[in-house]
Amino acid sequence: MKTVKVGLLGLGTVGTGVWKLLKMRADVMEQTAGAQIEVSRILVHNMAKKREGIDPALLTDDWHEIVDDDEIQIVIEVMGGIEPARTIIREALKAGKNVVSANKDLIAEDGGILLDDARKYGRDFLFEAAVAGGIPIIRPLKQCLAANDITAVLGIVNGTTNYILTKMTEDGMEFKDALKKAQELGYAEADPTADIEGLDAGRKVAIMASLAFHSRVVFSDVHIEGITQITSRDIAYAEEFDSVIKLLGVARHTKEGIMAGVYPMMIAKDHPLAPVRDSFNAVFLHGDAVDDAMFYGRGAGEMPTASAVVGDVIDVVRNLQYGCTGRISCTCYKEIPIRNFGDVRNKFFIRMQVANQSGVLAAIARVFGEHKVSIERVVQQHAVPERAELVIVTEKVKEYHMQDALDELRAMECVHEISSVIRVYMKD
Ligand SMILES: NC(=O)c1ccc[n+]([C@@H]2O[C@H](COP(=O)([O-])OP(=O)(O)OC[C@H]3O[C@@H](n4cnc5c(N)ncnc54)[C@H](OP(=O)(O)O)[C@@H]3O)[C@@H](O)[C@H]2O)c1
Repeated sequence: MKTVKVGLLGLGTVGTGVWKLLKMRADVMEQTAGAQIEVSRILVHNMAKKREGIDPALLTDDWHEIVDDDEIQIVIEVMGGIEPARTIIREALKAGKNVVSANKDLIAEDGGILLDDARKYGRDFLFEAAVAGGIPIIRPLKQCLAANDITAVLGIVNGTTNYILTKMTEDGMEFKDALKKAQELGYAEADPTADIEGLDAGRKVAIMASLAFHSRVVFSDVHIEGITQITSRDIAYAEEFDSVIKLLGVARHTKEGIMAGVYPMMIAKDHPLAPVRDSFNAVFLHGDAVDDAMFYGRGAGEMPTASAVVGDVIDVVRNLQYGCTGRISCTCYKEIPIRNFGDVRNKFFIRMQVANQSGVLAAIARVFGEHKVSIERVVQQHAVPERAELVIVTEKVKEYHMQDALDELRAMECVHEISSVIRVYMKD
């Protein structure tokens, strides 16, 4: 019976899940993958840490022991971060090893370089777990949907923010209380910045857009806004408009180029993404042949992420037996320009506090009109006698026209505060 040896880089949340899943499936691995899979070395940072069920002889804090080991054919990178992960992956590919990674930060930045290396050395570089954890989306984009011209990818790709927004919607919590609950349950890190400011979702959008449109999109191409400004009042208005607020990753291929962004959006309740609640993730896309398709499941966590990583490992083991590693590498064969975000057209919900006196609405409408912003709907509520809350929903307008109008409104004496500016999802 053949055994394929594997080097594991990292034994944290995902690494531990990978270790457990390989053990759980060991009895059927020969039938599933065609060979046994043996983790023969594990890289960790802290050699002194107690690790239950792990033979200490497997552990090392020197990555060369894995890259220089000729018997290791697959390296699983679940250590995270840019360096030394990038160097180790490049050296592993150069040494003729296949690599499976879950590292979205690195792939959103340098995926192109790593895939070029994999092609150069004829090896697999697979990263199903890097976007939406356990949900299969990388392989569908690269393989199952390869016959399509994909024009749009929309995703709820951060479980922490989806959990927070769900709590705000269903339990009437304010943002900070929902964040605290997410932290208590382990859904949010002690430093939640990467999640709540949209950075984590932005990395996933960069990766998905690159694969969907066959053109490299990097993290810095993605326009990013988080959910920290969303209030229970906005959530209540969304309900009134038969919508919910979600942090959406949006990537579109238009005739002017690719637009990629992450921001909170009001989305109608009848859209398939609207009922995706709690810490679940989903990716919705449109292809010219497949029409609409949606992928749903667990976007993070020990075992869901291990599911994607071990699936990739099994794929590599199968390829090794047929001598066909490196069969599908980089699929970015186009160079499509990235659209200037200011030129992108969106529909907006604006909530503001204004002076409760005659002529104010007309003055505000005039500012919008001067900046080519057409108004679709106005709702006015009188909170206190001298101040009114005004909600305006616009037609689709260019981002820079909207920002110019908001700048002018902020300077007006009768406008006390622009409380919220939230985009409203519309099918193109
Ligand atoms: N957690 C998830 O649900 C999830 C989902 C999808 C993708 N990912 C991605 O998967 C990767 C791993 O995430 P994680 O949550 O498992 O991280 P984690 O719990 O922080 O584990 C990281 C592991 O890597 C080791 N490590 C880190 N830097 C090292 C270095 N310089 N040298 C040697 N060992 C080092 C750590 O060693 P010690 O144990 O000694 O500290 C630890 O075992 C990241 O790229 C992440 O973005 C995670």
